Amino acid sequence: MIVYTESLSGITEDQLSGFFVGWVKVPPRAVHLKVLENSSHVILAKDSETGQVVGFINALSDAVMTAYIPMLEVLPDYQSQGIGTELMKRMLAKLGNLYMIDLLCDADLQPFYGRFGMQKTTGMMIRTMHE
Ligand SMILES: CC(C)(COP(=O)(O)OP(=O)(O)OC[C@H]1O[C@@H](n2cnc3c(N)ncnc32)[C@H](O)[C@@H]1OP(=O)(O)O)[C@@H](O)C(=O)NCCC(=O)NCCS
Repeated sequence: MIVYTESLSGITEDQLSGFFVGWVKVPPRAVHLKVLENSSHVILAKDSETGQVVGFINALSDAVMTAYIPMLEVLPDYQSQGIGTELMKRMLAKLGNLYMIDLLCDADLQPFYGRFGMQKTTGMMIRTMHE
């Protein structure tokens, strides 16, 4: 069974394996955990049988006008079961009625995010792959 939690209490690096699929440089699990700890909001999807985290979403928010959703990922074996949709729905509900909620995604994912009322836009970015 998949359970959802906003708590990082008791979450260890070992429960965070398999993420960042396809990344050129996969962040270490310790970095992943720190990212979650430092986020304004985190929602985890856990497999209650294995205890492993199988999906996550995080957000950075000023709690007044703006939030950014940097990451949403569901492990390949758990995709297409509605987990990503549930994580997104829960995060948008959590963030509430802010002026702007932004994220970046590839064009093929725009229909997925469109289901949550998000609109296409253009943007700018910097990416630095730290050693
Ligand atoms: C995008 C992602 C989070 C969706 O999670 P999920 O649990 O599979 O989502 P759901 O089961 O709720 O919805 C699945 C639907 O999302 C859409 N979708 C998912 N990935 C897609 C992709 N790469 N391109 C186009 N549509 C996609 C499809 O409509 C899919 O339906 P299908 O399973 O019938 O094909 C997951 O595929 C993932 O982790 N991908 C790799 C990381 C990633 O791209 N994250 C988003 C960064 S912006």
